[in-house]
Amino acid sequence: MSERTPPRDRSADGGSLRSARWFAGEDLAGFLHRTSVHVEGISRASLRGRPVVGVCNSWSELVSCNLHFRGLADAVKRGILLAGGLPLEFPTISLGENLMKPTTMLFRNLMSMDVEECIRAYPLDAVVLLGGCDKTVPAQLMGAASAGIPTIMTTGGPAPATRFRGKMLSSGTDLWHYVEDLRSGRMTREEFDELESVATRPCGHCNEMGTASSMTCVVEALGMCLPGTATIPARDADRQQAAEETGRRAVELAWEGPRPAEILTAKAFDNAITLLAGIGGSTNVVLHLLALAGRVGVPLSLERFDELSRRTPLLVNVLPSGEHLVEDLHEAGGVPAVIRELESLLHLDAVTVNGRTLGEELAGVSTPNRDVVAAVAKPLAPEGGIAVVRGSLAPDGAVIKCSAASPELLRHRGPAVVFEDVYDIQNRIDDPALEVSPESVLVLRNSGPKGGPGMPEWGQVPIPQKLLRAGVTDMVRVSDARMSGTAFGTVVLHVAPESAAGGPIALLDDGDPIVLDVEERRLEIDVPATELRRRAERLSPPEPKYRRGYGALFLSHVLQANEGCDFDFLRALPGIEAEPEPFGLLSGWIGGW
Ligand code: FES
Repeated sequence: MSERTPPRDRSADGGSLRSARWFAGEDLAGFLHRTSVHVEGISRASLRGRPVVGVCNSWSELVSCNLHFRGLADAVKRGILLAGGLPLEFPTISLGENLMKPTTMLFRNLMSMDVEECIRAYPLDAVVLLGGCDKTVPAQLMGAASAGIPTIMTTGGPAPATRFRGKMLSSGTDLWHYVEDLRSGRMTREEFDELESVATRPCGHCNEMGTASSMTCVVEALGMCLPGTATIPARDADRQQAAEETGRRAVELAWEGPRPAEILTAKAFDNAITLLAGIGGSTNVVLHLLALAGRVGVPLSLERFDELSRRTPLLVNVLPSGEHLVEDLHEAGGVPAVIRELESLLHLDAVTVNGRTLGEELAGVSTPNRDVVAAVAKPLAPEGGIAVVRGSLAPDGAVIKCSAASPELLRHRGPAVVFEDVYDIQNRIDDPALEVSPESVLVLRNSGPKGGPGMPEWGQVPIPQKLLRAGVTDMVRVSDARMSGTAFGTVVLHVAPESAAGGPIALLDDGDPIVLDVEERRLEIDVPATELRRRAERLSPPEPKYRRGYGALFLSHVLQANEGCDFDFLRALPGIEAEPEPFGLLSGWIGGW
């Protein structure tokens, strides 16, 4: 763990603050910096002795889940002002899960760079991150962790459920079921159109334990947001009050820290992974935690996820692993209730952004509603949701969300039906002539970090229509892609190395026997090694999907799934805790004006 930052001297002129290096100078540079904020109506007196707190807002009309963030930002700013700070809100790019193509994951690292460089380059003493939709939360955290300035996050909260024909309609999980109903003929086109007309939900992120809610819960377990706030529904007044309180806390952080690297320790990552297992959270969080750990120099491997998941019972009865919504988890005590239940498996001495330990935050947390949060002694399943499998098909690992899979398929041998990419699926999956049986293993390749590109959420390969009509509800599927956190099925994801990087998944032919044994953590191709070597010699690397711009940068530097898909040059460098302060290079400089 890095050394605890000493508190700043709170003398009246605020000269110890980082922002004072911009605003306190009696030279031309100080003049220019001050006038740049005077133009916003901020007086010189307001700049003196007052921490400047950035509000990093991922609001965008292109990101429907974050549409209420202008109001939340106002609440954060109110808290900052009430605590004696000066709030300055700034935008970054934002990542809307549904509208952005080919996938938001292609742009997670870009957003993290935007966030990092804005934080570092501007006169900020602390930052409040305002994220919600899937990739906005990890992107902001990764950027802030690299920037190293005291940071706290507040999130948008889950959207309320809507109803369809008298039944609860969740954001994603129920939709996947209805799509299968449509494809199998159990639902008419008219009924599906009716579903569309009621599926529009008010503000907030997906309301089951998809990637957004999994990620916000994990932020709480990491200690990067105020306790009890991750699950507050988007429309509750409590959500606004939590934002205000977050603003207040950010001012204290500006004076006293801790900085992100002091919170994001190996213990914090253990706590986050344990919580992820206990809530049956999204496989996408594995990628984000691996990437975040890389930003702060904490060694973390897929094995740690498997170790902690094996010893952690599944406790939270929320879709897609259970029945309820995140708002029900909130009613049942939210993340603190789950932490209370898992406390014997957690590092309770881990420091949180509140300046207290995770254990200290548990004071007063009571036993939850057992219908939503099961007891450790009587869990929903003895092991957490995510298992890591390896073998000749995935030498560097792959993941499967066991809690959303069919138990009878977790040990399976079947012939591969190989799809080259998502277009191949589109063209052939419902072809009556497709040679496929319920025992087949549907394989999708060229959908990983480089091949997708950006590793889209295509891993839940649809069940062929003729099998759906015959009553098949699940099959083993294997890919180098990701899957929506709201999705379900016996789906092996994140196969590494991916096919575009020459992984063995590129060598598969139709009919090759594939062996999945989750108990033994194995994923094998049952084809002689000599034959695989012969096929490898014939393999030629795919054409790159991008030749210029950000896409080319992405393809050149993205790491494989088992390393979190960050860019190699964004990971922490050994022995270097933070880049030099930009202002140190320019202090007193007046040229170029
Ligand atoms: Fe934004 Fe699910 S689409 S959180």
